[in-house]
Amino acid sequence: MVCLDRTGYPPPLMTSTPGSFAEKTIRERKPQIIAEVAQAYPYPPEILSELKAFAREIASEPIRPLHEDAPDVDLWQEAWSEHEGHSWFDVPWYFAETYFYRRLMEVVRYYQPGPWFDVDPFAPQKAAALEGALPAFAQCLDQPHSDAYTAFVLLLHETLWGNRADLSNRTIAAMAEGTGTDPSADRLLIDDTARIWQHLNAHPGARVDIVADNSGLELLLDIRLAEFLVAHDLAEVRFHLKRMPFFVSDAMIRDFWHTLACLETFEPIGKRMVRRMRETIDKGTVSLRDDPFWSTCLSYHQIPDRIDDDLSASHLVLFKGDVNYRRVLDDRQWPHTARLSDIAGHLPAPFGVLRTLKGELIVGLAPGQAEELQAQDPRWMINGERGVIQFVHTGRGGIGLQESSLAESTSSRGGLSRDLSLRPRDSSTPGQKASPTLGMTGPAIGEGRDG
Ligand code: F6P
Ligand code: MG
Repeated sequence: MVCLDRTGYPPPLMTSTPGSFAEKTIRERKPQIIAEVAQAYPYPPEILSELKAFAREIASEPIRPLHEDAPDVDLWQEAWSEHEGHSWFDVPWYFAETYFYRRLMEVVRYYQPGPWFDVDPFAPQKAAALEGALPAFAQCLDQPHSDAYTAFVLLLHETLWGNRADLSNRTIAAMAEGTGTDPSADRLLIDDTARIWQHLNAHPGARVDIVADNSGLELLLDIRLAEFLVAHDLAEVRFHLKRMPFFVSDAMIRDFWHTLACLETFEPIGKRMVRRMRETIDKGTVSLRDDPFWSTCLSYHQIPDRIDDDLSASHLVLFKGDVNYRRVLDDRQWPHTARLSDIAGHLPAPFGVLRTLKGELIVGLAPGQAEELQAQDPRWMINGERGVIQFVHTGRGGIGLQESSLAESTSSRGGLSRDLSLRPRDSSTPGQKASPTLGMTGPAIGEGRDG
């Protein structure tokens, strides 16, 4: 596992910080999620009473270990053991949130043989969100674009703003419903779209990896972006989806297929798009994966070797959404003017992050910018109204932290570097390279700000 020595890193965001958004997500949102899950299916009394007990534990008891037998339990137990005896309000935020979802899966018997095996407790919410998003999405599908670059800008920006509506955060989802996907440009705090375009055009027939976030509108827009990249011979695309229900709306492979099945019913244009997408999947030009790593408590500073090896063959990795951004930053309190390439230059391929701000961390801002934003809107980091598209070209080698920290299989956190026991699962055959792109136009691009 590629695991960075975290000496010199700033502290992680903690649920213990009074008045922080991290604290609020545990105090307010997690009990709501439990209540929503209790309504999702006719669960038997024992599951309902365990859901209640789980809510009580979060409110006032120490964090409990997992009790079940499942292939991923060792990893989670190791993480839990570092926080044994602590309350849910005294742990790193990313651990608290991810462990919450894993514990919830235990309560609803997600991994246990029986009637609730493999039943996604969030499926009804995801289905409703998709149903709500589809008509407007289908209507946009026949908008003409003057040239490929203009289309790319629009698609990339739309897929960014599609990230506003994640279901783990109801307030933001409600706001996003009201405002569509086209907020004004000054809401985009960092926009490296042109650099991403230039990078893609410099690597014809590239491999692009989309580390996806939410199902519903965001996944529809991701699929449209993938279709565009393939149709313009810019790239073959690999989607990385979640193996386990995660952060309520995160997309799993089954959500991808469900999305296509629903879109297909919008004739003729949705049906045509789905036919093309299925053809590219059959050819392997678009493929779907769901390595269990993507739904764990590990950050992207603790990437298993198999993911590192796999992504090192990519020309561009697009990390979608707030949680992926947090994992890229190891969910820590970096100075807002820190450079993304200094923090995440260890990643094995050039990468972009497309994220609306829903957590109290951001890097890559100009000096004074954060203070100005704070004065304009005290909730600027958490209300999902602003976004960033940041690109780091360096991949490996751009790291400004200790180079020695790249040593394989070393961990500063007592064993979390251990590889996951679950094996990756491909849903489609490896892709073939698309043919080189010709005549793509775009802007003349100067030195962009790096992260
Ligand atoms: O519950 C709030 C929250 O967990 C954020 O803190 C988190 O970053 C977000 O929801 C999920 O966002 P996304 O779907 O963009 O990863
Ligand atoms: Mg999400």
